Amino acid sequence: MLNFELYNPTNLIFGKGQIEKLSTLVPKDAKILLAYGGGSIFNNGIHEQVIKNLKGFDIVEFGGIEPNPHFETLMKAVEVIKKEKITFILAVGGGSVIDGVKFISAAVNFDGNPIDILQKRLLIKENAMPFGTVLTLPATGSEMNSGAVVTITETQEKLAFGGSAMFPQFSICDPTVIASLPKRQLQNGVVDAYTHVMEQYLTYPHEGYLQDRIAEGILQTLIEVGPKVVENPTDYALASNFMWSCTMALNGLIQKGVPSDWATHMIGHELTALYGIDHARTLAIIGPSLYNVMFDTKKQKLAQYGRRIFNLEGSEDEVAKEAINKTVEFFHTMGMDTKLSQYIEDYSKTADFIVNRFDKRGWKGLGEKQLITLDKVKSIVELSY
Ligand code: NZQ
Ligand code: ZN
Repeated sequence: MLNFELYNPTNLIFGKGQIEKLSTLVPKDAKILLAYGGGSIFNNGIHEQVIKNLKGFDIVEFGGIEPNPHFETLMKAVEVIKKEKITFILAVGGGSVIDGVKFISAAVNFDGNPIDILQKRLLIKENAMPFGTVLTLPATGSEMNSGAVVTITETQEKLAFGGSAMFPQFSICDPTVIASLPKRQLQNGVVDAYTHVMEQYLTYPHEGYLQDRIAEGILQTLIEVGPKVVENPTDYALASNFMWSCTMALNGLIQKGVPSDWATHMIGHELTALYGIDHARTLAIIGPSLYNVMFDTKKQKLAQYGRRIFNLEGSEDEVAKEAINKTVEFFHTMGMDTKLSQYIEDYSKTADFIVNRFDKRGWKGLGEKQLITLDKVKSIVELSY
């Protein structure tokens, strides 16, 4: 096993009705910026619950953080914070609102041009404004990790950043919030979390036996509850297992002591930046193509995955190949189209565009062994057409 440090200061408060604890979690005397997205929290009663449980606090609201949050919008929140002398930020939303708040938190006291946080992928270790979250969409794990992804509209770039100061102080995760989610977002959540596990699991054999077993447990749980929760989001057993699986998939635990890939995400982010395709759907497009193109380096782990998750039998190559087919089948069950041509008509220049971008950024070798070179990226994207 590789050496590791496990640091995760987020106080995760999980379960039905836990929002009632909000007033005890926010620092006393805080002046709060309540940040939210496009307004779903007004339709499903979450806004009302937040306000009710923050009685007596001084609150300024900032709405309009869009899916795949925009740098330009977030900078407006930074201005509000400075003008209103805000001391604490509360994100109420899904991954986009939480990621947006992470950026706002980092940008408020940043010495320099905050766009550098994204374009230079700076590590934020200090000077961030404290924040907490009320999660409304299980998917990203952002409620318990220190990463975020922000889009710069002007340059059509979707860039990740993070650092130890980017953990939420607390996150309230009440599984009943998923009742109001559109089917598409529930499907997205399952596939995003599933792919998070795959990025950290589907590499090469190593000695992190426990990490593998935990990862497999999350995959199995998502396969078990995913298709059902989409149909029955008010079933608490399904909702709670779905939400906890999503958090566990990307709170850092399964990544400790093992190699990880993340190239599906790096390439997928480009499809969102270019075409606005939902994050999870870009992963369903790219993931299977990547497993095929990188078959030789991943086949041992693919075979383990095939045997343990899908009970497949046969030679290593046979099981590994079939495991990819089973993954695609699962994505289809979850309502995903898995080819780029099913989302957009004019896709033929996509591979060259992405390769060119990665080249300019100096991303010449992605993946667990940096073997996903630019020619491989090209093949992966072309295979996903
Ligand atoms: O904006 P509102 O009106 O709230 O509506 C949202 C939005 O339209 C809606 N929604 C959220 N909760 C709801 C609800 N509708 C009804 N009822 C509820 N309870 O759902 C829509 C999508 O929300 P969004 O936050 O964009 O979805 P998600 O949580 O999937 O987040 C996606 C973003 O997270 C990033 C993605 O790249 C993308 O930008 N990621 C962040 C990661 C991280 N921080 O670790 C890792 C991920 O890999 C991912 O890259
Ligand atoms: Zn993701």
